[in-house]
Amino acid sequence: MTQDSRFWDKIAERYAKQPVADEAAYQTKLEVTRGYLRPDMEVLEFGCGTGSTAIAHAPYVKHILATDISSKMLEIGQHKAEEAEITNVTFQQTGIDEFSVADGTFDVVMGMSILHLVKSRDAAIAKVHRMLKPGGVFISSTTCVGGVFKLLALVSPITQRFGLLPLIRSFTVEQLEDSLIKAGFAIDYKWQPAKGKAVFIVAKKAG
Ligand SMILES: C[S@@+](CC[C@H](N)C(=O)[O-])C[C@H]1O[C@@H](n2cnc3c(N)ncnc32)[C@H](O)[C@@H]1O
Repeated sequence: MTQDSRFWDKIAERYAKQPVADEAAYQTKLEVTRGYLRPDMEVLEFGCGTGSTAIAHAPYVKHILATDISSKMLEIGQHKAEEAEITNVTFQQTGIDEFSVADGTFDVVMGMSILHLVKSRDAAIAKVHRMLKPGGVFISSTTCVGGVFKLLALVSPITQRFGLLPLIRSFTVEQLEDSLIKAGFAIDYKWQPAKGKAVFIVAKKAG
């Protein structure tokens, strides 16, 4: 168990009860994502949290592997899936750094509110690119650098030691796009509801 998984375990119950910060934007992201989904698709969501997004998309694909470092987040997700009678989502405890599958396994990979939390954004994006089939898409939503968030990123190495925050990496939307392009993706869709809000990007692997 790592510092960060302990942090997420600790806040999992509270996180599950919190309303989505911007419901309208969330619904738009679900709708855009749905446009990329097909019934025969294999999907990965890493950093799935309590599974809301995976559960919402499950009826539109063959199978979703939903992964997270926090066992408590996954327990809640599993329970929510059972309540919703969703049987095609598998929950697995793993960090994106440790996770390993054969190249070209997935049609779609989703990473929502997670790229600022991983050890190396470039390594995670390169791994996603390898895990995707040709023509597959990586759908992400990421809070990039800005006011309060920049401050949180700065203090997070200290607060992480006391279990108060996970380690947060701060970067700009342009740096995120550069990482995606460097890994071999083309940006298929990009939407930022307002300055300072999370940027939603659909990045496509060449077919
Ligand atoms: C901000 S929450 C986002 C959860 C969910 N994707 C959502 O949009 O509500 C970040 C999640 O990522 C998980 N996480 C943090 N670092 C991770 C890593 N390196 N690999 C996989 N999951 C991670 C946390 O346990 C937490 O559930």
